[in-house]
Formats: sequence, C-alpha cells, structure tokens
Amino acid sequence: MNQQHQTLQQIDHGEGDEPLSNLSGNESFRNVLDRRLDRRSVLKGSLNAALLGFFASGLLPGVVQAAGSSRGVESGPQLIGFDAVKFYDGDGVMLPPGYRHQVLLPWGEPITGRMPAFDPLRNTGADQAQQMGSHHDGMHFFPIEGKSPYEGSSDDGLLVMNHEYVEPRFMHASAVGQKLSRNGVPLKDGKRSADEVLKELNGHGVAIARIRKQPNGDWQLVQDPRNRRITGLTEMQLSGPVRGSDLVKTRFSPDGTRTRGTLNNCAHGVTPWNTYLASEENWAGYFINTGDQPREHKRYGVASKDTGRYAWERADNGADEYVRFDASNKASSATGDYRNEPNTFGWMVEIDPFNPQSTPVKRTALGRFAHEGVIFHAAVEGQPIVCYSGDDARFEYIYKYVSAQPYHKATAGGHLLDNGTLYVARFNDDGSGEWLPLVFGMGPLTPANGFNSQADVLVNTRLAADTVGATKMDRPEWGAVNPATREVYFTLTNNSRRTPEQVDKANPRASNDWGQIIRWSEAGDQVAGTRFDWDLFLLAGPQDDSNYAGAAMNEDQIFNSPDGLWFDRQSRLWIQTDMSESIVNTGKWAQFGNNQMLACDPVNQVLKRFMVGPIGQEITGMCTTPDQKTLFVNVQHPGATTSPEDFAVGKLASQWPHDGSPYPRSGTLVISREDGRIVGS
Ligand code: FEO
Ligand code: CA
Ligand code: CA
Repeated sequence: MNQQHQTLQQIDHGEGDEPLSNLSGNESFRNVLDRRLDRRSVLKGSLNAALLGFFASGLLPGVVQAAGSSRGVESGPQLIGFDAVKFYDGDGVMLPPGYRHQVLLPWGEPITGRMPAFDPLRNTGADQAQQMGSHHDGMHFFPIEGKSPYEGSSDDGLLVMNHEYVEPRFMHASAVGQKLSRNGVPLKDGKRSADEVLKELNGHGVAIARIRKQPNGDWQLVQDPRNRRITGLTEMQLSGPVRGSDLVKTRFSPDGTRTRGTLNNCAHGVTPWNTYLASEENWAGYFINTGDQPREHKRYGVASKDTGRYAWERADNGADEYVRFDASNKASSATGDYRNEPNTFGWMVEIDPFNPQSTPVKRTALGRFAHEGVIFHAAVEGQPIVCYSGDDARFEYIYKYVSAQPYHKATAGGHLLDNGTLYVARFNDDGSGEWLPLVFGMGPLTPANGFNSQADVLVNTRLAADTVGATKMDRPEWGAVNPATREVYFTLTNNSRRTPEQVDKANPRASNDWGQIIRWSEAGDQVAGTRFDWDLFLLAGPQDDSNYAGAAMNEDQIFNSPDGLWFDRQSRLWIQTDMSESIVNTGKWAQFGNNQMLACDPVNQVLKRFMVGPIGQEITGMCTTPDQKTLFVNVQHPGATTSPEDFAVGKLASQWPHDGSPYPRSGTLVISREDGRIVGS
C-alpha cells in the first residue's frame, strides 16, 4: 500500500449510475383509475403468465402483441442469416461462424498532435488529450466525402465516438496497490493531483478519427488534420432559448453564452446535415452542492456530498476549471460563483466533425436532462425536423422535438435545433399516446406554477414534464426509427424501484430487473403531430419471464437490460445490452452470460444473439459503413467487475483486448464477414 496516498473509496452507484431523482407524483386521476381496474389481473399469478394471458385474450391494449399482429404479420425477405451465438461468460468476443473482428482505436491510442504512445502509468493529462478517450459509447461512421451521413465511401471515413466516463484506478501510477473501486480515486492529503484530474477530464468527451480499410481487410487510423479530441474542458457555445439566460451566467461566461466541456456522453445522434450530436447523460454526479440546492440542481440529483464522482473539485492546484465542480453556494464567496455551472450541462452537443476549428454547440431547445442520445426521422424537404431523446433515469421521460422551420436540404443546419417545440410523452393505458408541449405560458407552465420563461422551462425540463403529467418510464435509453415503416422503437432498460402500485401498461412489471422495448407510430403517419399509438414490442428477461412475438424467449434469444438500439437501412433491428457491472455474472443475472448484442427481424419475428463481449463490459455503440459490409461496435469498461481487493493485489477480472497493456481497455470492434457480404444477412 502506498502510504503517501489515501484513497477515496467511492460507493458504486450501481445499476448503471443512473440516480433516482424523480420524486414527483404527477399521476393523473385517470391513470390511477385505469391501473386500479387492471391491477388485479396483472398481479394474479406470475407476471409472465398474466402477460401471456393478455396475449391469448387479445383484449387488453398496450401489452405485448405478436410483432405485426396488430398490423398483420407479413412475410418478408429473411433479414437474419447467421447462426445464433450461445451463452458465453469468458474474456473474449464471440461472433457467429463466418465472422471476423479486429480491435481498433482502444482507449489511449494516440490520434492527434504529438501522438504520445499509450502508457497508462506514465501518460500525463496533456497526453490523454492527444489520445482516444475511455469508455467508448455511441458512434457514427461519416464517409470521407463529407456530404451525407449515410452515403459515400465504405472504405474511408471519420469515425466519431463518445467517451462516456473513465475508470481512474486504471489511469494513474498512484492507484497501484490501493484498494479502489471502479469509481474510486487516489487522494493525497485529501486533495487530488491536478494532473490526474486533467487526465480524467481529457479521458471524457468525443473523439474524431479518420480510419481507412487496408487491402487485407483490416482498418487503420489515418493521420489527418480533422482528427480531434473534444474533452471535458473544450470551450462550447450555448445556443437556443437558454443562451444568455441568468440561469447559465457563470464566472467563466458572465453573459451566459459559453461553457467548458461535455461530460458523460452516452449515445449519440446524427443530423440530416451531416453533423454529430453527443449527449450529456449522468453529468449531475460530477458536481456537488452542499448548500441550499436550487430546483435545477435538486431535481437532477446534483450530489449533496463531500465530493463529486471523481472529486475533481479537490484538485490540488485550485484551478478554476476544476473547482467549478463544487457548485455549492458557499463556494461563491471565496472563489467566484460556480452555482450555475451544472446548468450548462445536460444538453445535446452538436459537433461538425469535418471542421476541426468548429466550436461545439449545446442545443438547449432539445431540453436538459440525462440525455441518452437522440434519433431523427429521415428529413423530408419542406417538412419540420423531428427527433426523440430519452432521459435515462428511473421514472424519467421520453421527449420529442419538432423544429419550427421546415427542412430544406440546401440551407439545413444547426439553426433547426434552436427554434422548435419540445414535447414529452404520455403513454395511455388504452394504447394511445400524446405528446405534451413544454412551452412557457401553455397549460400549467406559467408563473403561477413557478415557470418564468422558456429558458426556465428548458433548464428545468424534468420539472416541466412532471407538471404536464408525462408518463414515468423504466429508464429510457436508445431510440431507433424503422426506415421502412417510420415506427419508433425505444429501449426501457430496467427499473428495480417500480412498485406494484406504480405499474402501468407501458411499464408493466414491478421490480423490473429485465427491461422492455416499446414502439409507436405517429397518428396518421404525421411524424410532427401530437398523437401516437403504441405497444410493447418485447419484454426482455429469462426463459420463464420474457416475451417476444407471443412466446417466451429461448436460450439463443434471452437477454436483459436492453440499452443500445439501431435499425440498419434494411430494417434489421440491433439490440445491445447493459447489465450493470454490479450484477453481471451474479445470481439470477448469471444465466445471461456477459453483455451481448442481438439482431432482430420485426417482420419475420426472428431474434438471435449476434455477439457476446468480454468480462465486465457493456456492448454499446454501433454503426456500419454505407455498404453494410463493416459493422463497428464498442466494448465499454471491460474488467469493471474487478473488486477493490483484487485491484489492490493486481488481479484483474479482464485483460481484454489482451494486447499486453497492464489494464483492460475500452475499444471498437470492426466486424465483417469472411465472405464479404452484408453483416447480419
Ligand atoms: Fe450511459 Fe443510459 O447508458
Ligand atoms: Ca447507454
Ligand atoms: Ca449504459
């Protein structure tokens, strides 16, 4: 044990770090009454039996229907052509026969500037800003022509990805031999080394890396002036209704127009005008406020604790960019006013990967919450832009944004994300749904209820959604739009805190350990409208408590905690899982093996496991080249299951990708077929 260092043995947040901060009781009388009428049938017998009973009766709306049963089961071309991957809990990557993979751009790979070689125990904070960040998440392959996000080269492009967070114990020499959890950090005299703080901030954010396919089929990094790291320190603009509001005026930006950095970037989005959107998911935990918390801190779960997630506010050089993570009122008198710093996080961040000089822009009209990502309907000339975003925390909501101005290809740009209407979803138990506008002055969003401007509504998006009576969901994660039908699918990953009294048709399981996938069609196919029809596409879970297309899942299908979700251009639905590192391979979760990825044909109702990743990780992030012959998938946080005790003695749960480095590394899998055909087919 290094006697010079104390450790901050931070408690694992568990279950994916998503805090519970919705304590509002925004249930309408109608919903409560509806549930009361149904509860007896839901609670009778095992839940699965009840659901299968609903199926058989066909009487109750809003529960699992055989895919297509409400639309007529069609027989289409077989989309799923591979043999399912079996249960796996080892430390490699399992793919169907005939598939190969390569690991590309792992954490620490130098991509820019000085190209400092990866050496986790010696790399400095400045080095990390020239290297791939950690904890790879949402990503997109932009063909190198730079004209369209989906058309162009399939051999050469900019791979753009999020780096959601870091595991400090794998980053610092001072951590060696210490009993540290995955969120634990080394302390010295109660302070953090400023360079370690810098390294962790630079391990977050977004990476832009040009990659090219080689004649042998492998992909390589290409040195290019567009290669870039955006980090937790990069200057950004605030745009949209919140720009200039008193709620975002800070010591750094007294006029409320700028902020520094983006954090906890989970899933992503791709705009029709060929830019990238990085989400800000669990940003709240990086801040503390131990004083009287304003509602825009409290409702988001800003910690009232001694330290933030990585104790950055304790940096031993007292630099402004680190001290700002203490947003306590008391900090303002001694060191300047940081109270509004957290209000500059929780947004979607637009990045132009083709312009390395561009300043990222936080688009405030899309709302402030724990954004998992954002998914767009295909743009139609002359029609508004429509996109959706989930707020991943227990009992939070699903949102939709409709631009005020119509899309015109020739002039489309970020301005379409600055002026529009944000809505929140209400899922009625009869299978209908409504988009409720979050517009200052409309409905209850008035000064009488504490809302004083549109900026106020947006900074307090969650409170506004509570106030209009949105439906509290089981942790909304990724969304995906079926390009063939324009149906929207969303993963609801799990929610162990839902009580029997809180179940509804969209969130039908109490103590929901397994998660579900919901889908809807906008009424009359008017995607900018305010009404929709929904059903549950599947209930994830084990063989005795799951449901897809009217039956329990078999051993080649079972999964839980759906997170990543994506339709490829042939309407193949890809599903990725994120069982928390606190439960994976333990107890009732052990039957699922490691986190995995599946592929599904919603028409022919085929669902098969496509891959399984190594120990301790989650599978997240996916995209293909335009020809669909190369699939990129991210492996995040291998080895996160290493216990503090094992870490202290150098015993690691995983050493993936087994490249000789001392610690496991997040990385990108490049997956293709040996016969060179479309992946998944
Ligand atoms: Fe970062 Fe909701 O997963
Ligand atoms: Ca996720
Ligand atoms: Ca996750």
